[in-house]
Amino acid sequence: MADDLTQTEFPESNADRMAIIGGTGMTQLQNLDIVRREVVMTPYGEPSSPLAFGCIKAVPEREVVFLARHGYAHNIPPHMVNYRANLWALKSVGVKKIIAVNAVGGIRDDIGPGVLVIPDQILDYTTNRVNTFFEINLTHVTHIDFTEPYSQNLRQLILDCAVQEQLDIIDGATYAATEGPRLETAAEIRKLKQDGCHIVGMTGMPEAALARELELDYASIAISANWAAGLSDEIISMAAIEAVLKQGMTRVRQLLSRIIAS
Ligand code: HPA
Repeated sequence: MADDLTQTEFPESNADRMAIIGGTGMTQLQNLDIVRREVVMTPYGEPSSPLAFGCIKAVPEREVVFLARHGYAHNIPPHMVNYRANLWALKSVGVKKIIAVNAVGGIRDDIGPGVLVIPDQILDYTTNRVNTFFEINLTHVTHIDFTEPYSQNLRQLILDCAVQEQLDIIDGATYAATEGPRLETAAEIRKLKQDGCHIVGMTGMPEAALARELELDYASIAISANWAAGLSDEIISMAAIEAVLKQGMTRVRQLLSRIIAS
């Protein structure tokens, strides 16, 4: 069915673009020279932001696309993001690979604030999101393979680039996707830990699954913004999260520049 979707709804495109979906702490990509912005309408409504097309100075011929998941004003909460429109818009402009940036809370002992992680698995605890393109007007019922929710090639590319940039990064973690927008209770985090989750965030799903439905390569750079609820003595404040992300995004941008240039 993914073939049906791609063949019937998208124009043939020879473009092989990479896209970055920026999350909390990254509403724009400072090191990207923006050439143009495009407002894309989709059958699913409007994406979170216009798509920004640009390149980095080192590789002016390679255009990448940037999308701000929460809008440029950072005013769309995780449960209100139009994930389908975002993924559809990117596919419609010839994007084939997506690197998502996700702020998370750290659950595993070695994933404290500021740590970068490339997750390899997902547990989906979201409860109230449209999570598929395969709903109506189907010629047959479809179940995508999602055994490995992230593209192994793209994960490896990110990890290789991190080594080249001498950035500490954790290879592999299970991402718990929660509904939000509230943060979790301490008991919920204890349960997620028992379930085998290592990080927790609100935006990883259904984004990863929708990308797979559209046959897009997708991987995530997760940045721990805080210890998850109950794992430290401190109350989790937005101010503290923002401070950690502000500092951590410098490394994420450095990594993205290397990935784009590679
Ligand atoms: N929980 C869920 N999402 C998050 C967190 C958290 O602790 N930190 C950043 N995003």
